[in-house]
Amino acid sequence: MSTIKRIWAREILDSRGIPTIENYCQTDDGKISVSSVPAGTSTGTHEAVELRDMDEKRYLGQGVLKAVENINNVLGPAVVGMDPMKQAEIDQKLISTDGTENKSKYGANAILAISEVVCKMGSQVSQKPLYSWIDDLGVTVGLKQGVRLPTPLLNMINGGKHGAGNLDFQEFWVIPAIHKTFKEGLQIGAEVYQTIGKNLAQRGAIHSVGHEGGYAPNLFTNAEAFEVFVESIKQTGHALGRDLFLGLDVAADSFYKDGEYHIRDRTSSMSDDQLLEFYKQLNNQYKLQIIEDAFFEDAWGSWQKLTAEMSSTTIIAGDDLLATNPKRLKKAISEKACNAAIIKPNQIGSITETLQVIKIARDAGWKIIVSHRSGETNDSFIADFAVGVAAEYAKFGAPARGERVAKYNRLSTIELEVEYLKNK
Ligand code: PGA
Ligand code: ZN
Repeated sequence: MSTIKRIWAREILDSRGIPTIENYCQTDDGKISVSSVPAGTSTGTHEAVELRDMDEKRYLGQGVLKAVENINNVLGPAVVGMDPMKQAEIDQKLISTDGTENKSKYGANAILAISEVVCKMGSQVSQKPLYSWIDDLGVTVGLKQGVRLPTPLLNMINGGKHGAGNLDFQEFWVIPAIHKTFKEGLQIGAEVYQTIGKNLAQRGAIHSVGHEGGYAPNLFTNAEAFEVFVESIKQTGHALGRDLFLGLDVAADSFYKDGEYHIRDRTSSMSDDQLLEFYKQLNNQYKLQIIEDAFFEDAWGSWQKLTAEMSSTTIIAGDDLLATNPKRLKKAISEKACNAAIIKPNQIGSITETLQVIKIARDAGWKIIVSHRSGETNDSFIADFAVGVAAEYAKFGAPARGERVAKYNRLSTIELEVEYLKNK
């Protein structure tokens, strides 16, 4: 049996140039695993607490040296001597050492960093690929799907807090048809991505790219982004509604203020009911396969109405609403507030708790969308995680930029590996 000999961490930069944690685990028999954790920009208020130094003299207050110290001096030593294959016991030890409900004492970023690096070590010790080790861990909490390659939600245009352009909605996606292989879907997405880039340039609308690698243009309205999609998809020769579909992460919190929503498609602000009507019109025109965070994170009644009125055609996904939190998820299930869960391990702060949340969503018959964060590193852990929990969908940003393609390319590798093993 291998045991944990040492855990140590350091501060590195994420894709936005903001510090995050890189973490190492060493066993008594000399194995080493490395992992780094992501961070959000449009974070929900119900997420576990990400510890930042708040020392304005370093990285504008965004340093993570306290979290690093917490790993090196408290949390790491707490799990030394433990068996890295006992993920649940280790996560429980980390949670009880912190002792707060939202992991605010030592930081959810510090706790997840250890949880993830231990999970990677578990894969090494078990001599299984990471995705299949995660599948095994899923079984221990009652999940039983086996592995599955997810359909990617490919983010083409970034707005809201993620883009320097003028759009209000955060993510405009192209979603390959479910019957496409992962490789085919990625190719379709990359072709459309490049064509959208050319068309935006022709309109004089490219501003830059956003946090997740999608273009961040200035356009007249949010709906105009979909006009560009339709035009671009036609030019690539793929058929909308057959080869690929459209979807949105609205991230409505970012344009919600004092009970009203402000978007550039309308001259005056909108009530929840007016926004719902707007979504229905958008859906009639563009057939949205998935819509995420359509309303403010605590507007439970509006979520309920949205689900009642649109879920026959569209998957209603909760991100800031649920915050990968079991209590909020159970409330959303009982109130029928949505029917798919965005899953981000760093919103709850440990692998075991994330698996438990997925189990609750599965028991309710919900779809699972495993997600990156806007601040990422080249760590592709989340790709293996999506496969290991048999998520229907994975969202890792645009099919461009190193930290995004690290994950998509990892999914391609896993697809090859799974195919090879099937045919062996
Ligand atoms: P975030 O964005 O990582 O900035 O929270 C991703 C999302 O909202 O899904
Ligand atoms: Zn979101």
